[in-house]
Amino acid sequence: MITVATSMTYSFFRPLDVSAALCPFTLHGLSAHTPLDTLSLFRHLALDIIVASSYGFRLGAISKWALEAEDHLTVAIGDFPKRGILRSTVPKWAWNLVCKIPNARLRLLCDSDKIMAEFVSTRVYEMRAKLNAEKIPAPIPVPTIVAPTPSHFLSAFPTFSRSSSRASSPAPSCSSEDSSFSEDTEKSYLLPRLLNYKYPNGETMPETHVISECMGHMVAGTDTTSISLSYFLWELTRRQDILRKLRDEIDAVMPDPSATPDIKILNGMEYLNAFIKEGLRLYGAAPSLLERVVPVSTSKNFAGADGFDLMGYALPPGTIVSTQAWSMHRDPAVFPSPETFLPERWLPSYAASKGELVGSADEEREAARLARMASHMMPFGTGSRICGGLNLAHIIMRVVLVAVLRNFEVEAAPGTNEKSMDMRDSFVMFPAAMECKLIFHPRVPA
Ligand code: HEM
Repeated sequence: MITVATSMTYSFFRPLDVSAALCPFTLHGLSAHTPLDTLSLFRHLALDIIVASSYGFRLGAISKWALEAEDHLTVAIGDFPKRGILRSTVPKWAWNLVCKIPNARLRLLCDSDKIMAEFVSTRVYEMRAKLNAEKIPAPIPVPTIVAPTPSHFLSAFPTFSRSSSRASSPAPSCSSEDSSFSEDTEKSYLLPRLLNYKYPNGETMPETHVISECMGHMVAGTDTTSISLSYFLWELTRRQDILRKLRDEIDAVMPDPSATPDIKILNGMEYLNAFIKEGLRLYGAAPSLLERVVPVSTSKNFAGADGFDLMGYALPPGTIVSTQAWSMHRDPAVFPSPETFLPERWLPSYAASKGELVGSADEEREAARLARMASHMMPFGTGSRICGGLNLAHIIMRVVLVAVLRNFEVEAAPGTNEKSMDMRDSFVMFPAAMECKLIFHPRVPA
């Protein structure tokens, strides 16, 4: 059994201060030499956070994970895409047969859709009852814009952006000028906002759609987040130079290692932001083709109702088109030495540090370089179907990274190497070994 230390003398691994949802959990209680599969660790953590931010419900998946007890919902979410593939590739009679095999693991896989739907429906009925009883204030309507902004996310997160006592004493050196996270947004969970949402014709969203949307968030946000974080930490086990720079920045804003700074502070950390951009460039968890269908439309981009004019190529309605992040993020004309993990490329001071900036024309060129790179980044997709949880993902990545790096030395376990971490594409990208085993040692204060 994995021991979870509860002593207050330990640094809590409690990455979000939404943490009615998260148990006080510390990795200090783990044997320093026990390799942990971070894919699993962060999958449970991400689910706890998503469930907290969607329903205000404390799932406790990470607590179960720490006790090595299986959390059925986490398993079901992992199984759900596999179930879909299996279900659509084998004939119906064979599928029915598979589902009758008396094997507990197989039953979980076959029932993964039901397990998820049941969990979400229960939250929906509970929330509906609370709303009816007016126990929680009516939330603001969900904005009709499809692409979310940071404040959309925060409005689903009731406690995070509220300044806590620890957030009110940031280190003076920390800039928050990049902070686009608004503090005055109304706070509400995702679910009541969906339940109260009204289409322009005044109709509310059917409950089946609400359930499906919520299930979508859980499936889409869990593995993607845990895979990205796992690769980020794995990269750091090999790059002491980057780790040192990150630590310098983190230590300055986290004098108390157990107190994670407010997201506004984290959001303004230049090197951390550069690191995350570079991480998403090379290790974004969904780098595959994102399909769209050319609609029949009279929009200005269309050549009448005949289709879409793509740089002189006529695409008829119904044509499936797609693009993907993998090659966009590795275009050497935009990202020189594209395979090199180089957070510095995202720093405005990068060219200056190489002595390449002399006059104002150079500065303009530098600004254009940064803008060009930014425009080629699509780790969360693009357009009207861009990732619905990208703001939450950005927050989780920042909070988890600073909490871990402030408190732990991270080492690759034996067997975790270039070969085991080789990226394999199954729409969501996975390490070849399907695990990422790292060892966390409590960090010795300098
Ligand atoms: C680092 C973590 C994540 C990555 C790399 C990622 C990436 C993506 C990508 C590439 C797409 C497809 C977008 C497109 O087709 O243009 C997507 C869709 C989506 N993601 Fe994420 N995602 C992450 C985290 C999350 C989280 C935490 C949530 C929810 C809490 C979430 C919810 C969604 C949803 C709901 C969609 C479907 C959007 C739609 O079809 O309208 N994602 N994500």
